[in-house]
Amino acid sequence: MAFLKVIQSTLFRKILMSLTGLFLAFFLIIHLLGNFQLLLDPEIAREQYNWYSTTLSHNILIEIVAKILYVSLLLHILDALYITIKNRQADGRNLKVDTRGKVSYWHSRNMGVLGVVILIFLVIHLKDYWYIYKFGELPLDEQGQKDLYTIVIASFKNIWYVIIYLLGFIGLGFHLAHGVASGFRTLGLYHKTWVNIMKYIGIAFAILIPLAYAIIPVIIYIKNL
Ligand code: HEM
Repeated sequence: MAFLKVIQSTLFRKILMSLTGLFLAFFLIIHLLGNFQLLLDPEIAREQYNWYSTTLSHNILIEIVAKILYVSLLLHILDALYITIKNRQADGRNLKVDTRGKVSYWHSRNMGVLGVVILIFLVIHLKDYWYIYKFGELPLDEQGQKDLYTIVIASFKNIWYVIIYLLGFIGLGFHLAHGVASGFRTLGLYHKTWVNIMKYIGIAFAILIPLAYAIIPVIIYIKNL
């Protein structure tokens, strides 16, 4: 069927990967700004962070965006799996001399491996916060809101939890280093100047975003020593 052929085509898969990936990158900025509230003075932070989480989960518009986010995440992962398997089937295992390392970076060739690191991080992350918040029993704060703040702070008092998060952010950084620029290229930014600009924006994003995320658990851990 023509529809099936389009869905299976490399171009369709790459466009899907880019659109979902760029949407997820946008989510990363918003999510970071929301989580920076954890670093405020504890009394203000608890009320504000819990209010923020309650407001987000009771707003119909945000709920729609969240559903788009879940679908994007799922499509991005499934598409990544499909592309990785296809690449493995067609890789240069039979070449006498493997010269790929000379023309591409390690992280570009191992987007699949980095994706798995992020996936493990996400499973732990969503189980401990998102699932508990949506479906678990949470204590309430003085305003009667679910006390997500206390749950998050308590988890970052554990050094192993902080280390798992830092590893996840390192994986995310390498993944973004290739992903952002590659996503824009797939969507048609082929011009040499634009390719270079996007490459630098991609690298800056890949360094600054994971670094900014890393500051949160590290500061919370140090503050609670
Ligand atoms: C210090 C770093 C982080 C903290 C403290 C944090 C905290 C949270 C919390 C408390 C929730 C559940 C409440 C909610 O739905 O808003 C959540 C949800 C989520 N987080 Fe994070 N997060 C961090 C980093 C990340 C990173 C790096 C990613 C992606 C790679 C990520 C992906 C998600 C997703 C997809 C959800 C579900 C969103 C939703 O239902 O709207 N988080 N995070």
